Amino acid sequence: MGKETSTKSSDKKFLDRQEETLLQKGKELVSQLHASIKTAQIYEQNNEMFIKQSRKLFDLISELIQKEGEILLVSKEGYLFLNDLRLKFDLEKYAGSKFIMEIFERFDMEKISIEEGVTSSELDSFVYLFGHLNPEEKDIFDLFEEKIHKLGISHIKVERIPLFKKESYKKSLQENKRLAKKTFFNAVTVVREAMSSLESRKTVNIVRVKRMVQSLVDLIMEDEGTFLELTALKNFDEYTYIHSADVCVLSIMCGVRLGLEKNKLCELGFAALFHDLGKVRLPYELINKPAEYDDSEWVQIRRHPELGVKTILSFRRLDDYSMRAILVAFEHHLNLDLSGYPKVSKKRDLNLFSRIVSIADAYDAMTSGRVYIKTSYSPDETLKRMFYRSGIFYDPVLLKVFINVVGVYPVGTLVVLDTGEIGVVCGINSEDLARPRVKIIADRYGEKKEYKVVDLRKFDETRNEYHFSIVQTLDPQRYKIDISQYLAVE
Ligand SMILES: [Fe+2]
Ligand SMILES: [Fe+2]
Repeated sequence: MGKETSTKSSDKKFLDRQEETLLQKGKELVSQLHASIKTAQIYEQNNEMFIKQSRKLFDLISELIQKEGEILLVSKEGYLFLNDLRLKFDLEKYAGSKFIMEIFERFDMEKISIEEGVTSSELDSFVYLFGHLNPEEKDIFDLFEEKIHKLGISHIKVERIPLFKKESYKKSLQENKRLAKKTFFNAVTVVREAMSSLESRKTVNIVRVKRMVQSLVDLIMEDEGTFLELTALKNFDEYTYIHSADVCVLSIMCGVRLGLEKNKLCELGFAALFHDLGKVRLPYELINKPAEYDDSEWVQIRRHPELGVKTILSFRRLDDYSMRAILVAFEHHLNLDLSGYPKVSKKRDLNLFSRIVSIADAYDAMTSGRVYIKTSYSPDETLKRMFYRSGIFYDPVLLKVFINVVGVYPVGTLVVLDTGEIGVVCGINSEDLARPRVKIIADRYGEKKEYKVVDLRKFDETRNEYHFSIVQTLDPQRYKIDISQYLAVE
């Protein structure tokens, strides 16, 4: 009996190891495919760079075929599968997997199969197609398949997404959006409740806060877009709570880009959510005063970092989460050159989490035009101002990471296109930060239009230029435009 059990468990270990290897190779395959398609988008098929990258992919594919017989790469319900094994991506490789899933979706494709006997030139031509076919083309899948045949690629086949699946995929995207929205407002509620409990000297349910932050981290890793839209919505009545949720979301996104592990992301989110907690100990009228602060009011406001430390120290249990939160509450208004507040006499290195939160905090405060700065700046103007202080106020590397999160033209920026049309940035393309997706809201004469979303990456091959480009940004306040009504977070 004992022997049988140990045989079984060693079999299991063997299988586990096999699966583990396939999983590793699968992740590598996706990242090599990503690199190859990106190279194909820039270089011609006979270019040395392209050939070099495609060879790497070919070697990996040959190795996998030798072991597995064939390769089936499937994109289904938001996941990638290699020979039926679901590929789980660590944060580093996450961008690559997202890119590949997008390619599958844009080409209306569900499956790529690669059979034994595939040649490197077949693979070159196949990858090259992704870089050079226009996915906006009508019946793109048919066109794609036709090209595959014409080019004589016989060992690589593609399968189309069945129509019913396309519908359910759309539904699951909507469901994700709904869940993202629910979780975001749950974060707002959690801050509101925590603050009101502390005001009435009651304890805060830390377990609930942690659980909420964990699901926030999970959802942000699935779908950043919706959260970027949510952080661009500003509601002044609930400013402090929404601001806290915004800073939490933006900080987690930075942490994802930095490759932090999930438990660290949760700690970061928790600390960011409570960075302004000290404000509960200041008078409500002061925090929500619509006019500029006078000197004596500033003295009070500047106490909120220390008050935050005291407030978090009053939590019943002090663990890693609260310790981090204490540091962030204390340091989030200290700049890199240690200017800011509270005044510190000794030279110190600011904690990584504090440096992240301070950037997210400044960005959100400046774009909201509330609390410290009574006028708001457009998101791109805010980034310019922050960039000017890079290395003095803000950690230069982290600021670049942050720009990578929000884009050069962040969601919510009002822009004029070279067609004369006016639009609102509604999504960023991590592949090209200067070419986001824009919802057109008015034509060149300023007449309102039925909203249409255009992707600024769209390239016109015949005219050899982009279909749309941003020529300038506008201040929505000047034109009395309420940006939030154009953000698609219904
Ligand atoms: Fe603050
Ligand atoms: Fe803040």
